[in-house]
Amino acid sequence: MSEAAAPVRPWTGRVVLVTGPTGGLGGAFARAAARRGATLVLAGRHMRQVERLLDEVIELGGTDSAIYPINFEGASPLDYEQLAATVERECGRLDVLVHAAAQFEGLISIEEIGAESWLKPFQVNCHAAQWLTQTTLSMLLASKGQIVFPLEDEERIQRPFWNAYGASKAALATMARHYAEELESRSVRVHEFRPGPMRTALRAKAYFGEDSNTVPLADSKLPPLFAAMDAHWAR
Ligand SMILES: NC(=O)c1ccc[n+]([C@@H]2O[C@H](COP(=O)([O-])OP(=O)(O)OC[C@H]3O[C@@H](n4cnc5c(N)ncnc54)[C@H](OP(=O)(O)O)[C@@H]3O)[C@@H](O)[C@H]2O)c1
Repeated sequence: MSEAAAPVRPWTGRVVLVTGPTGGLGGAFARAAARRGATLVLAGRHMRQVERLLDEVIELGGTDSAIYPINFEGASPLDYEQLAATVERECGRLDVLVHAAAQFEGLISIEEIGAESWLKPFQVNCHAAQWLTQTTLSMLLASKGQIVFPLEDEERIQRPFWNAYGASKAALATMARHYAEELESRSVRVHEFRPGPMRTALRAKAYFGEDSNTVPLADSKLPPLFAAMDAHWAR
């Protein structure tokens, strides 16, 4: 390819940390950011799948991308401090944090849900997002960074049987609002991102009778988010 025809990579030099990179939304975001030239840090738990994505991301343009192995179910605040310290040491900066990891076991009665099934969604959907945001915030403030909180449709998760997933996503939405308002006059932009239905493993656990071909892919939800992100950096 001639130099003139080389693709423009507007996120070259930017570091993007994605949780849940093996999922529908996390994977779509990671690939799109790599096409824009960003360096990805893929924070996931199943190494074979994350390694496959890493190869893809590097191929797409995400030079120097790397994996950070972590399982949010049992992670403690110290694990998040270590993650943040590793990103700072190895990458020297953080520009985007995307909280795309999510734990959902399927529709279960709140009366019958077991203790572990109650705790896990809070650990992954809520506590991980809080501790990871807190420990990486100084880097995000330094880079005029951006945080993406993928949120659910509030009316849907208040319906019966959405159990700890629904309650933890409602808590996440409140948390995201707090960050958005508390950081409003500072350099960081918080995206309370409500993608609507997406054709992912998570969706299939609740809507198993649905023809998945009628549900949009996660990629189709990203252009307005990327436009808002570019607008923040253009300011
Ligand atoms: N799909 C929808 O219709 C929809 C609608 C509105 C909002 N959202 C939100 O969009 C975001 C992405 O959801 P999705 O639909 O892309 O879900 P998904 O395809 O099921 O992906 C979930 C991701 O979370 C990871 N994960 C789960 N438990 C984990 C743990 N203990 N430690 C580390 N990683 C863990 C999974 O990793 P493994 O591959 O290792 O399991 C996977 O990468 C979520 O915040 C969800 O609430 C989704």
